[in-house]
Amino acid sequence: MTTELTIRKAHLDDLDAVEAIEWSVFDSDQLSRASLRRYMSVPSTAMVVAQERADITGYALVGFRKGSKIGRLYSIAVDKARAGRGVGRALLDASETAAHERGCTRFALEVRADNPRAIALYEKNGYEMLGREDEWYEDGGAALRFEKKLVD
Ligand SMILES: CC(C)(COP(=O)(O)OP(=O)(O)OC[C@H]1O[C@@H](n2cnc3c(N)ncnc32)[C@H](O)[C@@H]1OP(=O)(O)O)[C@@H](O)C(=O)NCCC(=O)NCCS
Repeated sequence: MTTELTIRKAHLDDLDAVEAIEWSVFDSDQLSRASLRRYMSVPSTAMVVAQERADITGYALVGFRKGSKIGRLYSIAVDKARAGRGVGRALLDASETAAHERGCTRFALEVRADNPRAIALYEKNGYEMLGREDEWYEDGGAALRFEKKLVD
């Protein structure tokens, strides 16, 4: 477990660090700097960051749709050098809390079928696999759909 880990709402000042993590961690389907900046400020998304001392070590992005009680994890990423120390789990917890606070009763996500590490994170945290979508990603990769009921 990490020490001095804070999970907080993202600010525009975090943009450089979040962009660097996004582009170092994902090989395709990266969110552009402009998209990340927009997601930090629009009401239809909530972004949280993990901060350890002065460093941003991960981020998660949650999306909401008007009239829907399903929150959606758009992205979660942890700095490679800081992976495997509980940061991802803490970001996932905070994402679920953000969705719950917005009145969501369920939380949904897609994950690459060839990403066992992320799949393990979701399965260990109460997510149920609902199905598979072939050709979901830019490179033709398949996605697994997961969902979790958020407690009242
Ligand atoms: C997936 C990711 C967010 C997990 O973050 P993390 O900080 O490494 O995860 P945590 O340390 O909180 O670990 C949570 C769980 O993930 C799994 N996990 C973590 N490190 C792992 C490893 N080296 N091998 C296999 N599973 C691992 C385990 O199930 C772990 O639970 P445990 O600690 O009870 O065993 C991170 O690895 C990452 O950014 N990956 C690249 C981006 C990505 O794939 N995002 C998901 C897109 S859907």
